[in-house]
Amino acid sequence: MKFFIDTANIDQIRDAQELGILDGVTTNPSLMAKEGITGKNNILKHYVDICNIVDGDVSAEVIATDLQGMITEGEALADLHEQIVVKVPMIRDGVKALKYFADKGIRTNCTLVFSPGQALLAAKAGATYVSPFIGRLDDVSSDGIHLISEIRHIYDNYGYQTEILAASIRHTMHIIDCAKVGADVMTGPLSAIEGLLKHPLTDIGLEKFLADYNKGN
Ligand code: E4P
Repeated sequence: MKFFIDTANIDQIRDAQELGILDGVTTNPSLMAKEGITGKNNILKHYVDICNIVDGDVSAEVIATDLQGMITEGEALADLHEQIVVKVPMIRDGVKALKYFADKGIRTNCTLVFSPGQALLAAKAGATYVSPFIGRLDDVSSDGIHLISEIRHIYDNYGYQTEILAASIRHTMHIIDCAKVGADVMTGPLSAIEGLLKHPLTDIGLEKFLADYNKGN
């Protein structure tokens, strides 16, 4: 399972990279705004800064919602750095843009996916990644993890190569549940990733080992 961090915060990206388990980064306009990164040029520079910290894929989202606008923006984003993956929303022109980018060899992440049908369309259009938002589904009393398993089933039926990128991860158990149902990638906050580390029996066990070792010294 690949681990992406879902933030535009440089310190957190560095922390995750230094942990040695980071495979990539996802961002979106809201995450950029949260870090105070506004204005086209600042946002583009921030993408490059992120690419220079991590080794893996960095999703950069188009703002246009029409086909030509998405193509123009997406090509410019892809030209920024070889690690950039163009993030395209699941709308009618977005599907056309996914196909256009696939034909040109530009990698894409189809975002704002909330149903198996949308995921099927993204795969047919040749998306590199599909991003079902599981936390936002849970927020409205739908089952986000169930959506991941439905998409896994459909993709496996036909051998689609599009990677299932479980997005809108809110906590550590989401990561475990996504791993159980076969998500290829998860993207979440650093806190959810660090939650995987923790177990009280580890802390108690280590304390005892160190105390016993020190008895003889
Ligand atoms: C994915 O690429 C999105 O940036 C993200 O996971 C959205 O998460 P949220 O629902 O916590 O905003």
